[in-house]
Amino acid sequence: MSTEPRKTGAPADGRKPVTLPELAEMKTAGRPIVMVTAYDYPSALVAEEAGVDMVLVGDTAAMVVLGYDATTPVGMDEMTTMAAAVHRGLRTPLLVGDLPFGSYERSNEHAIDNAQRFVREAGCDAVKLERGGASVERARAIVRSGIPVMGHVGLTPQTATALGGFKTQGKTAAAAARVAEEAFALQAAGCFSIVFEAVPAAIAEAIVQRLEVPVIGIGAGAGTDGQVLVFHDLLGIHTGHTPKFVKRYAAIHDEMAAGVRKYADEVRSGAFPGAEHQYAVEPEELAAFRAYLDQESLTADDWDWSATEI
Ligand code: KIV
Repeated sequence: MSTEPRKTGAPADGRKPVTLPELAEMKTAGRPIVMVTAYDYPSALVAEEAGVDMVLVGDTAAMVVLGYDATTPVGMDEMTTMAAAVHRGLRTPLLVGDLPFGSYERSNEHAIDNAQRFVREAGCDAVKLERGGASVERARAIVRSGIPVMGHVGLTPQTATALGGFKTQGKTAAAAARVAEEAFALQAAGCFSIVFEAVPAAIAEAIVQRLEVPVIGIGAGAGTDGQVLVFHDLLGIHTGHTPKFVKRYAAIHDEMAAGVRKYADEVRSGAFPGAEHQYAVEPEELAAFRAYLDQESLTADDWDWSATEI
């Protein structure tokens, strides 16, 4: 098995690596931007083959990959390992590493250090952080250090408790104004794009029209410049609760469970492995080996292991 390093050689269909100017042009031209999350090498290969524009190694990994019931438990070490695996499977989409809870809030220096880890250790092109407020200052610092930053407003899962739970944000005029102010502040700080999560469609659309940077929506309606969904949600790998905004395009969990169930049945019935899954040996070699085993002196007790060459 071999793996091809990312972004070397031309992809078979001639696609080129997606750049920040290209994303800006897509907004101007009204060409929808497609982003999906990925957490490992196989999901990256799928995203690459599907031709998406951006891949986010999201901290949703905590929930859909690691089995936690929130995004907060995942840390930089796990995120960096996952991002590096995703990087190995990508050639064209822009790769964004999601700064996890606790990796950027403390200080600008801490935020830059962790953003640099994503670039240096995992090969990310950009990083994402959540919220306005103090995060705006962190975004500005990371951008000034030379690393592109994506913002994230509306429902920000890392601080869902403070928001009153996993709820739609911006449902009143005052709350919508807060979402807009955070988005404008992140744009002014230099973010190249902003995720809007769980915001009423009409509110998102009104803000998007006034922003210069592309907005990627998740539960923010059809008026954003692009969409993002969690890989495990859209493919039906994750079978727990999914929010209203998720559309399932496949039922992979069911297919995987059926496959493993069939394997288990066949092992138990003796149907697997069949002759086609076994290695053969020449009959004379087998006969000689059997004769060797049949020697009287050959018992497990008197075998001289020290004389065995391995
Ligand atoms: O972590 C994540 O997957 C995200 C997306 C839902 C935008 O932040």
